Amino acid sequence: MKTIPDHWKWFYESRYGMFIHWGPYAVIGHGEQPLFRERLDQREYTEMACKWRPKKFDAKKWAAVAKAGGMKYAVLTGRHHDGFCLWDSKYTDYSSAKQAPKRDFVREYLDAFRAAGLRVGLYYSLLDWRIPAYWEGPQHDPAGWDTFCQYVHNQVRELLTDYGKIDVFWFDGAWPHSAQTWRSYELVKMMRSLQPHILINNRLGAIEKPAPGTQAAADGGAGAGELKELGDFGTPEHHITAESGRMWESCQVSTWRLWGYTIGERWRPADLLLDMLVEAAGKGGNLIMNVGPTPDGELPREFVRRAKAIGQWLAVHGEAIHGSEPGEVCEFITCGRQTKKGNNLYLIIRFWDRRPTLTLAGLETRVKKATLLTTGKKLAFTQSADYLTLKGLPAEPPTDLFPVIKLECDGPPQARPWAVHRLWQGDPRRMTAWAAARGTSVWADGKTR
Ligand code: GLC
Repeated sequence: MKTIPDHWKWFYESRYGMFIHWGPYAVIGHGEQPLFRERLDQREYTEMACKWRPKKFDAKKWAAVAKAGGMKYAVLTGRHHDGFCLWDSKYTDYSSAKQAPKRDFVREYLDAFRAAGLRVGLYYSLLDWRIPAYWEGPQHDPAGWDTFCQYVHNQVRELLTDYGKIDVFWFDGAWPHSAQTWRSYELVKMMRSLQPHILINNRLGAIEKPAPGTQAAADGGAGAGELKELGDFGTPEHHITAESGRMWESCQVSTWRLWGYTIGERWRPADLLLDMLVEAAGKGGNLIMNVGPTPDGELPREFVRRAKAIGQWLAVHGEAIHGSEPGEVCEFITCGRQTKKGNNLYLIIRFWDRRPTLTLAGLETRVKKATLLTTGKKLAFTQSADYLTLKGLPAEPPTDLFPVIKLECDGPPQARPWAVHRLWQGDPRRMTAWAAARGTSVWADGKTR
């Protein structure tokens, strides 16, 4: 990866953020897109949205959960595909400020999260399902498109002018229009002139229209909206795939599928959510974990419980995540995942097998000290060329989540040559001598018959 400029390092080091999908759609309780997915009547939806008045919204409470959860930044949907704005935009009256709540939710969110010491971001959907010109596109409605596109540019400028320092701007919904159509280059130029240090995600429209007859990738698909020239970080969605050459952030739901509040939702267990964070960190990226607050403005209890459990884990084991480097040094998938930081290697153990010893094969670097970070207990160990054996592990897992062993080495952790690659990678001949140690015969005793 290219060197990360100092003003963006906070993002790379954070590793963990909170994604918040909230808007009038929460009232319906079918995620964030019922308007389109259920082909709702636009007028009825607008009426519902204008009456939406969440009485329990208290941004300080959300910020407190993010803080206690060990998250370092947040991104709130300022405007989703339904077009309803959560701030006081002078370009529309379809907003929480002009309609029933008479409140600027974006400002309340920004103030509370900044006050809690968190970095702040805004999600902004380029598309707006209410506007026929969006559907028509510039080919069929050039004048309508110009007006709509100008509206988008105006709103982005407004958010970056009137709301203080915004750390992350998270576009979505470019589909099916190209970067040229959205005038994304111009947009990014304007954004950087207003806020030179802002981080902009990669969903600003595909750089070229797909060849005739091919299907444009919808938002959320692999490579959706990707554009090499624009976008400071990648946004793998519902999967955790490392990108080389730039920072990336995997966005994931804490539920099963939808981003907005959903009645009857199922929740992923805390260990699965934590595993997504550990996997992202192990691969050198961030996890932004989503929550869809209730129509009344509260974070669902199930989410708070899970966020806090992970936060408590991070309070003890955070050094293995925040500011860590990708660390899949040795083959370790049977037990867990690894991260590293300086001379330290962290073994994050997903499966505690209750044995008193744990052997890690293939670590080249000498270990100076081993600690079970979870309890602070120093661990005895032996290390030979190929094996590190840690001793004195408790039978009972020391945490319900993942215990972590910290290995302090005498240099940056490195694998032995044979262990640099995983089983299916690298030159297979590197293992021939190892296989042949028992002889070349297929018989159990190694002797040829
Ligand atoms: C997808 C969904 C959208 C959601 C986004 C978050 O694009 O369609 O509703 O906001 O993912 O990454």
